[in-house]
Amino acid sequence: MSSSGSGQLSDESDSNMQPAEDDCERLMSSLPVEKGWVDRLCQFQGFWISPRKLRDVLTCQRRFQAQHTDVLLVTNPKSGTTWLKAIVFALMNRFRYPFADDNHPLLSHNPHVLVPFLRAELHVDGQVPSPRIIATHLPHHSLPDSVKDSPCKLVYLCRNPSDTFVSLWHFTNKIRSNGSGTEAVSLEESFDQFIGGVSVYGPYWDHVLGYWKASLESPERVSFLKYEGLKEQPKVQVSKLAEFLGRPFSSEEEANGALDGILKLCSFENLSNLEVNKTGTLASGEDFNNFFRRGEVGDAKNHLSPHMMEKLNQVIQEKLYGYGLKF
Ligand code: A3P
Repeated sequence: MSSSGSGQLSDESDSNMQPAEDDCERLMSSLPVEKGWVDRLCQFQGFWISPRKLRDVLTCQRRFQAQHTDVLLVTNPKSGTTWLKAIVFALMNRFRYPFADDNHPLLSHNPHVLVPFLRAELHVDGQVPSPRIIATHLPHHSLPDSVKDSPCKLVYLCRNPSDTFVSLWHFTNKIRSNGSGTEAVSLEESFDQFIGGVSVYGPYWDHVLGYWKASLESPERVSFLKYEGLKEQPKVQVSKLAEFLGRPFSSEEEANGALDGILKLCSFENLSNLEVNKTGTLASGEDFNNFFRRGEVGDAKNHLSPHMMEKLNQVIQEKLYGYGLKF
């Protein structure tokens, strides 16, 4: 076993491809650990994750069977996962659920309920209707082999690092206060960890670069989107996304406003004001309304000092230098 977070696990408990509790404990004790913003974080295969989630990741990596028709939505946390889930759900299911349908599932269900995160139990046939839309925060190199070996499509949505950081900081403090009345974690302390590479599923830049490179190598398999691009040119971006997913909008649909309808249905204004999203709670305990805060580009400058912004920009420029990816 490695102490650098490479995460080798013995195959002792392989009968149902689920690592045994003991095996997990042993692995965990060998991994680097840092104080996280909510929980501790351990470094596994080069990325930071809550120890509570490690067993699920291991099981997924061993058990998840990708299907050719799967669509995987991938994000760094707080990069617009909820928005992407809504858009792709509406887009892929638009003949079954027309955007103007008063009973559209997005009006009564939070996007996280309609599009589940990749987890061990998803291997059970029929649990998610086909073609399956599944989300994950896993870095590219840690995706299950069945995904890497499959022609299934991956849609990656990234967001500029400063807004991602600020959104994550707000979200974390909401979760901390929901829980046991724990004190808020300071912006400065969280910032230092983030620019040091310690953030959930991070380092941020490794996550983004992994999918950026994959999208350059296999553009027919991996679509790389930016939150800011979706905000700026929603019609262009979602129309391209529909083509990428093999579901282009027909001229008839364009004439009847299907694309505009989907964008409106999935907009921050619409989703955040729905009763279900104001009052509901995920099975894992997070309130749906925690996933909707401001939904704007550039909010970070209301929280970070010019010095912090400059420091973050510097780190990001260094880390992304030479890859042709800019924010
Ligand atoms: P802010 O905290 O900056 O407001 P995730 O879905 O990955 O958890 O990301 C949450 C962020 O996306 C939050 O950002 C949230 O407000 C924003 N968001 C949620 N739904 C959105 C939508 N429909 N359109 C744009 N942004 C949205």
